Amino acid sequence: MLRIALDGPSGAGKSTLARDIADYYGITYLDTGALYRTVGLAAKLRGVDPHSETEMTELLPTVKIEVRIEAGEQRVYLDGEPVGERIRTPEMSMYASAVSALPCVREFLYETQRGFAKSNSVIMDGRDIGTVILPDADVKIYLVASDEVRATRRLNELKAKGIDTTYDEVLADMKRRDKADSGRSIAPAVKADDAVLLDNSNLDRENTLKAAVQIIESKMK
Ligand code: DC
Repeated sequence: MLRIALDGPSGAGKSTLARDIADYYGITYLDTGALYRTVGLAAKLRGVDPHSETEMTELLPTVKIEVRIEAGEQRVYLDGEPVGERIRTPEMSMYASAVSALPCVREFLYETQRGFAKSNSVIMDGRDIGTVILPDADVKIYLVASDEVRATRRLNELKAKGIDTTYDEVLADMKRRDKADSGRSIAPAVKADDAVLLDNSNLDRENTLKAAVQIIESKMK
């Protein structure tokens, strides 16, 4: 069993690297941000305030969130329906960030995430994988990149999806979300003491994977 925790701020390239590591080692990839985004979507669809612990505590027992691995790809289902790309909009990023600060939501998603790592070799990416979800992971990586590089990547991603936005808007959203995610009192996005910092501001996709594999191999020795 190999369990890898990959954390870091939004736009650092966690999901690309996690997918590449999963392919390289033939292990399963769980994108935990997708779970928070799906809870955010549930709040939006039911007209629930994503900042309200009380309203969300009432909502959660009535929603069903499942993760299925289909053809090697993770698919998240909300009440039996695949969420697809609906969770990938800037609006859903803000909803996800809001609900992720609530204790009831973190508790709700804890078992799904833990359960995954119990029976599979996994790489999980998120904000608190190395600190809360898999504190005993074999390898922990904290992936960062400069604000400018992250905003440019996110802008290109959104443009490729046909979402109309600007660099300044993306940068401002990103900073707001970074502040909320790292400043919250519960499971803040911070580097675990035993995580290895990897800055990929100046690395392309291939070299980011190479650097990560080096970290993993040296930890596994
Ligand atoms: O990685 P992402 O952008 O898809 O994550 C969406 C939001 O969910 C992000 O603002 C922070 C939150 N999140 C979290 O609090 N803990 C995780 N393990 C993953 C995501």
